[in-house]
Amino acid sequence: MHVRLQDVTKRFGGIAANDAITVSFQSGKIHTLLGENGAGKTTLVRILAGLLNPDAGSISIDGHPVSIDSPKHAIALGIALVSQHPMIAGHLTVLENIIAARAGGQRTIIKMKALRGEVEQIAADCGFKLDLDAKAQSISLGAQKQLEIVRTLLSGARLIIFDEPTDVLTPAESDAFFVLIRRLADQGKAIVMITHFLREAIAHSQAITILKRGRLVASVVPAETTPAQLAELMVGVLPSIVAATEETPGRVRKTVLEVDNVSVEEDRRQIVRRVSLTVSEGEIVGIAGVAGNGQEDLIEAIVGLRQATEGRITIDGTHVGFGETRKLIRDDRIGYVPPDRHRDGLAGVMSVADNLSFEVLERRGMSRFGLRRFQASARHASRLIERYRIQPPRPETAAEKLSGGNQQKLILARVLDRNPRLLIVCNPSRGLDVGATAWVWDSVRRVRNENGAVLLLSGDLDEIRSLSDRILVFFRGSVSGELSPDEASSERLGLLMGGAGGEHAA
Ligand SMILES: Nc1ncnc2c1ncn2[C@@H]1O[C@H](COP(=O)(O)OP(=O)(O)OP(=O)(O)O)[C@@H](O)[C@H]1O
Ligand SMILES: [Mg+2]
Repeated sequence: MHVRLQDVTKRFGGIAANDAITVSFQSGKIHTLLGENGAGKTTLVRILAGLLNPDAGSISIDGHPVSIDSPKHAIALGIALVSQHPMIAGHLTVLENIIAARAGGQRTIIKMKALRGEVEQIAADCGFKLDLDAKAQSISLGAQKQLEIVRTLLSGARLIIFDEPTDVLTPAESDAFFVLIRRLADQGKAIVMITHFLREAIAHSQAITILKRGRLVASVVPAETTPAQLAELMVGVLPSIVAATEETPGRVRKTVLEVDNVSVEEDRRQIVRRVSLTVSEGEIVGIAGVAGNGQEDLIEAIVGLRQATEGRITIDGTHVGFGETRKLIRDDRIGYVPPDRHRDGLAGVMSVADNLSFEVLERRGMSRFGLRRFQASARHASRLIERYRIQPPRPETAAEKLSGGNQQKLILARVLDRNPRLLIVCNPSRGLDVGATAWVWDSVRRVRNENGAVLLLSGDLDEIRSLSDRILVFFRGSVSGELSPDEASSERLGLLMGGAGGEHAA
């Protein structure tokens, strides 16, 4: 299969999200699209998937011109898009989600049995252990990605597009994912992936195309490039990054957060087991671990979204009971960036300005209605848009119209700008381009450097290593080890994440 886009252009209002893009995708090849947040990557693949109509340009498949006018049509042509956020019906089972595309005709028991067999076969071929009868919302994000892959293969897709697939995968899941797409390519599929991980692009693809502000700026052969070169092509020269503060010897750092023997239960199972940890002023404590080992549940207990079954949580020496932390979040003493921003983050139909400021305004007692609110909100928004480089820089844009990465920046800007005493931040750079990642890391360090306490949870080990002053590793609900960033080689981290090799390991 050879899919070619010729001079494809797509405008939103005054902005050309894609500006005369010409690019080809071929069977047997893994092709990466790179570019800053808002560069136009998702727009391009949504055109291929029949979700958007281009304003100009043409598309051909194996030399025949096509116009892809609906997702259904795209699937009929053999094109499937696995989007960044799972497109699944959570209340249906895994199997029902997978075969939804084949819903046509009656579903007799015999047909269902045959389909189930086919699905089991595909899943087994991919090396997935999917529970077909589980409710889709109850399985991990990694498993949801597997569900979507099985669904595209069942639909007979020959060009499979992944929009930031590894964002929600653990390192081990990512490795398995790359082995799988390599195999699919070898079987004759054409693969397109969008990523912000430059090393992934170099290691796993055969062609890299770089977009910038809607235009194609470079096509690169992965074997002949470096991450630094790619970063420069994408964003120009990277901003310099604030260095760690100099240690002032003898300085006493107060403990800000103290978690003492905290346990959390779910369905009568202990998912956090008597965890104790502290985070002091001027310190970033990183929590690493394979998703699902209790670290997110502990964070939820700290911020009052879950009730601990035992133990104490103390902030600045004061014991905080269940639900009290939420008040501290409202009062800006605690800044919280949740792991699942898609679910918890934004009011999509509201403007960027309102998303940046509605809480602030309510809290600071500015009049809620009228001109004053409007002006204050616009000023505040403009400042944050500039500081966090939110694109497009228009306070009135609806948040849902922003690119994925720019939505992330919006949420981070809202929290980081408040200078919280305690910052609890999950996956801060997920979905961000290299430039934006540098800015966000910078902001997290600034909170630390201004004597705040930071608890960082991240599935990205580079992020954990680059930011943390101390690293705690979670395994099966407990801390399986503590490392300094210098000691935290991938091997040691990997061992601890698997439950082996720690001083604290049982
Ligand atoms: N439905 C829409 N309405 C208005 N503008 C849109 C819409 N979808 C995308 N845009 C704009 O088009 C531009 C490109 O967005 P796109 O989502 O393609 O970026 P991206 O390269 O995928 O970025 P990211 O890495 O952040 O996901 C952005 O300026 C975005 O705000
Ligand atoms: Mg995108």
